[in-house]
Amino acid sequence: MSTDPNRRDFIYIAAGAGAAGAVVMTLFPLIGQMNPAADTLALASIEYDLSKVTEGQQVVIKWRSKPLFVRYRTPKEIKEAQDVDIKTLRDPQTDAQRVKAGHEQYLIVVGVCTHLGCVPNFGLGEYGGWLCPCHGSVYDTSGRIRQGPAPLNLLVPDYTFLTDTKIKVG
Ligand code: FES
Repeated sequence: MSTDPNRRDFIYIAAGAGAAGAVVMTLFPLIGQMNPAADTLALASIEYDLSKVTEGQQVVIKWRSKPLFVRYRTPKEIKEAQDVDIKTLRDPQTDAQRVKAGHEQYLIVVGVCTHLGCVPNFGLGEYGGWLCPCHGSVYDTSGRIRQGPAPLNLLVPDYTFLTDTKIKVG
């Protein structure tokens, strides 16, 4: 066996690299399986053209297998939402925290009641927002919980304005 230190170092390093390579090859298929499928990635974010919604109307689109409410609020509905004293709210949030500045007419929320997951009905209930038919939770025109058993406001998803009328959700 050679006692040349340089040769010994070379063999050691090469063996180490071989072992590391084997580990990488073993892990790769597992990591590959953990990546979301292409169709899942496509559903993770969606674009929507808000010009399809008219004032006073709600459109429901599907996002990540859930209904997404896109509501074009009237000036009266916006004012009602803004005038609420948030100290009176169960889940205190200002209207400004739930919409984008300069686009206050659009409210975009996940249409799933935060009580047990039913889909609330548009424009019903004392506060003009939504009424959940399952156990009577009432949301206002900002999607905030006002009556009934639901603990939280309707969820506002992450979204951005790509243009004045086009949003990307997720
Ligand atoms: S699921 Fe909406 S009130 Fe119970």
